[in-house]
Amino acid sequence: MTVSVQALVDQVRARSTLEDLPTGHFIAGRFTSAETGSALEVYDPGAGTSIGAFAAGGAAEINEAVAAARKAFEHSWRRTTPAERGRVMNRIAAHIRSNADLLTVAESLDSGKTLSEARGDVNNVIRTFEFFAGATDKVQGDTFAIDDGLLAYTLNEPAGVTAHIVPWNFPIAMLARSVAPALAAGCTIVAKPAEQTPVTALLLARLCQEAGLPDGVFNVVVGTGVDAGAPLVAHTDIDHVTFTGSVPTGIAVMQSAANNVTPVTLELGGKSPAIVFADCDMDRAVDSLVGSIFMNAGQICSAASRVVIERRAHNAFLDKFSKRADAVQYGHGLRDLDMGAIISERQLGKIDGYLSAAQKRGISVAAGGSTTVDPETGKGWFVQPTIFDDVAADDPLVKEEIFGPVLTVQVFDDEDEAISLANGTEYGLASGIFTSDTGKARRLTREIDAGHVYINQWFSVGVEVPFGGNRKSGIGREKGLEGMRNYMKIKGVGERF
Ligand code: NAI
Ligand code: MG
Repeated sequence: MTVSVQALVDQVRARSTLEDLPTGHFIAGRFTSAETGSALEVYDPGAGTSIGAFAAGGAAEINEAVAAARKAFEHSWRRTTPAERGRVMNRIAAHIRSNADLLTVAESLDSGKTLSEARGDVNNVIRTFEFFAGATDKVQGDTFAIDDGLLAYTLNEPAGVTAHIVPWNFPIAMLARSVAPALAAGCTIVAKPAEQTPVTALLLARLCQEAGLPDGVFNVVVGTGVDAGAPLVAHTDIDHVTFTGSVPTGIAVMQSAANNVTPVTLELGGKSPAIVFADCDMDRAVDSLVGSIFMNAGQICSAASRVVIERRAHNAFLDKFSKRADAVQYGHGLRDLDMGAIISERQLGKIDGYLSAAQKRGISVAAGGSTTVDPETGKGWFVQPTIFDDVAADDPLVKEEIFGPVLTVQVFDDEDEAISLANGTEYGLASGIFTSDTGKARRLTREIDAGHVYINQWFSVGVEVPFGGNRKSGIGREKGLEGMRNYMKIKGVGERF
C-alpha cells in the first residue's frame, strides 16, 4: 500500500524522520549492516537534526559489493538480452512512479531541498530510466569495407563492473543519471552515495530489485569518501568510474583510477556565466535566472552563479533581480517554499566564509549576505539569497565555486569583453546568453568554452542531451545516447574468409 505525501510529511513532523528507512548497505540483493559496526549520523538540513544512524562501510563492504557485481555481470546481466534489459528497466520506471511520493519526501528530508524540487528530481529519474530502457536494443556496431576477403566489424560490449560516486546535491537524480545508462549497456553497479544523503540510493536499489533486477546487479555501499569511496575507486576489479563532486576530489579519483588504467567520467562543477544583453526580454531573463541560482539553494553544478551584464542594462537588471531575491521565501524543504536548506553545517560554514570575506573586501551587497535559519522554527542551515554587485574578474567570488544561493554580477561594455569575462574561470560547464539578436547568440555560442549553452532560458534540456564540462569542469559526457558510451567497450573484429 502506498502512503500519501501528507501522511509522510506528518510522520516527519511527529518523529523527525520517516518510518522503516533502510539503513544498511545493499549488497547482492540484501540489506546488510556495517561489518565494523561503525555508523554515520545522517541529518535533516532543514532542521539540523538527525534522521538516523546509517551503516558506515569501508574496504570490506566495497570488496563484497564488487564481488557481487562481478558475479552478477558474468552470470546474469551481461547475458540478459538487450530487449529483456529494456523490459526490466521499464518495470523499474513504473515501480519508481508508484513509489514517487515516498522517494520525494525522503529526498526532501535528507537533502533539504523543497518538496517540489524533490518531486522534479524523481520525475527526472523516471524519465531517465524510460529513456535508457528504450536504448538497450538500439546499440549498433559498424562494418568496414577493407578488401574482398576480409569482413571487419565492431562489437559494443558492456564495460563490466562500474563504480558510481554520487554527491549530495541531487542524490537520486545523479545516481540515476549514471546507473540507468550503465544498466542499459549491460554493466553492473557499485554505487557510493554521499555520506550526507544515503537514503534514496538505498530506496532506489530496493525498488530496482522489486521490479526484477537480478541480485548483485545494483549494489549500494554507504560510507564516507575516504573510507568507502577511495577503496572503490582503487579496486582492481572496477572497469569504469563515474564521479560527480569537487575538483580536488575528482583529481584524486582520476589519479587513483590511473593506477589501474580505469577510465573515468568526471563531472566537477562550475562557475557558469549568464551573459545578459540590454536587448533581451529583461523580465524573462530575470525570471529564468532567479530560478537558476536560487533553485536547490544554489547547490547545483550548473547553476547560473555569475551574471555578466551589459553596462547600460546593469541598473535596471540589478533593481529587478534584487527585488526578486529579497522576495524569495525559504524554510524547511517539507514546507515547500521557494528555497530550501544548505546540506550541512560544513557547507554552511564554507558559504559563510565567502560571504564574510567578500564583505570585508568591500564588495557591494545588493541582496542578502548572511547565513540564517528557517524563520518559522529558528532551526536549520540556510543562506539568504545573496547578490554581490560589480565584482572584479580576478575576485574569488568570480573564480571559485561557492555552491550556495550567491550570485556574482560582472559588468561588460562590448561583446569581446563579455566573452572574455564569461570564459575567465578554470571551469567550463554551463553558460547562458540572453538576447533578442539570434545572430549574436549564435556567434557567442561558438566562442564560449563550456559543455552547455542555454539561450534565453536556463537548465531546460532533457535526458536526451549530453551533459558535461570542459576544462576543470570534467571529462566526458553523461545523459543521452552519448552517455551510454561510457559503459561500453568497442571491440574491432577482422575475419578473413
Ligand atoms: P566531494 O567531491 O568531496 O564529495 C563528492 C562525493 O565524493 C561524495 O560521495 C564523497 O563521499 C566522495 N568522495 C570524497 N572523497 C573521496 C575520495 N577520496 N575517493 C572517492 N570518493 C570520494 O565534495 P564535498 O566535500 O561534498 O563538497 C565540497 C564542494 O564540492 C562543494 O562545496 C561544491 O563546491 C563541490 N561539489 C560539486 C558538486 C557537483 O555537482 N559537481 C556536487 C557536490 C559538491
Ligand atoms: Mg541528509
